[in-house]
Amino acid sequence: MPTRRALLGSIAFAIGGLALAKRQAIARAQEALGLAHAFRKDFRIGVAVSNQALDQQLAPQLDLIAREFNSVTGENAMKWGVIRPDGINWVWERADRLVDFAHQHRMDVLGHTLVWHSQIPASVFLDAEHRPLTRDPLLAKMHEHIDTLVGRYKGRVWAWDVVNEAVDEGKGWRHSKWHDIIGDDFMEQAFRFAHAADPKAQLLYNDYNEHNPDKRAFLVKVLRDYLDRGVPINGVGLQSHVGLTYPDLAQWERSIATYADMGLKVHITELDVDVLPPPSNTGADVANRATYSRDIDPWPQGLPDEMQEKLANRYEELFRILLRYRKSVERVTFWGLHDGISWKNDFPVRGRTNYPLLFDREMLPKPAWHRVMKLAGTKL
Ligand code: XIL
Repeated sequence: MPTRRALLGSIAFAIGGLALAKRQAIARAQEALGLAHAFRKDFRIGVAVSNQALDQQLAPQLDLIAREFNSVTGENAMKWGVIRPDGINWVWERADRLVDFAHQHRMDVLGHTLVWHSQIPASVFLDAEHRPLTRDPLLAKMHEHIDTLVGRYKGRVWAWDVVNEAVDEGKGWRHSKWHDIIGDDFMEQAFRFAHAADPKAQLLYNDYNEHNPDKRAFLVKVLRDYLDRGVPINGVGLQSHVGLTYPDLAQWERSIATYADMGLKVHITELDVDVLPPPSNTGADVANRATYSRDIDPWPQGLPDEMQEKLANRYEELFRILLRYRKSVERVTFWGLHDGISWKNDFPVRGRTNYPLLFDREMLPKPAWHRVMKLAGTKL
């Protein structure tokens, strides 16, 4: 005869086993439904879609995107230099495909981006005689660009990065053609034009290195003024191109908290975690490039387990912070689908093998994906 104690013990063991089996079954079902489904009560999960995936209709990539994400950004498709390569004529096909794909799969579309100093033909800033444009004609051109692009997708693009990277760390407004020709109000004008073209779209200011206290302080001053004067802005996008050891996430969190306190929506617009040893420059200014050397490209054949673990830890840190601000965080977008096609293989150094995303080169989920998945729905 088993003793009463042994019997109780084995019942408890059986129940424990059942509970474990149930938890495992739930976890498996959740995994099969993908990240966006798991985070549906927290925030949207997005991905940047490459031009190649759109042009070639790469089914394996598009299928994975449809399974794992509920919002999409064109990694390049809507930038001025891509959608109007000669500065004037529109090439709509790729952006149309992105928007159609999103709508077929009930995803939200993020428009990236209307006013940026990068990936834009120099001719945009010149008149027919190749002389630099003055304020009014450049404002008219900005208006026409925003009106046409936002207008075409009116009601079908959920949010726009209206202005990208207008602030320079420690220096206030960045010296770009937009700023230097039009003046400080170029950004305000862009928001007004975008709002007029689609009054229901969310309008965002987007930038990198937003953990930087000087950048934050300057931006907060601008945003407060906008809110006071009713300039139509809904939120801030933090690109969040981070590394394993930079930036100080307390500073990144402070920026999120500050914007949230101001009543602004927070979008994490371009998340990736660079695992490679950084050259001296760690910003995301696409004009910056450092030179290649073997010592800053240590894992061309695959990421060692201990680095996978570090990457998973970093993603956990990031997501724990984001979940605390879930009331204000509208979406978290990864800048690329899998490691093999990440821009971080070529930035800030060309030709390295980087591992910044949640899917590996075979498009399989990495340990970091499992770690992030486990956090879905956690109340922190
Ligand atoms: C990058 C793309 O990922 C690359 O494919 C392209 O060659 C350069 O631009 N900040 C931004 C993004 O706002 O648009 C940039 O995307 C990365 C930095």
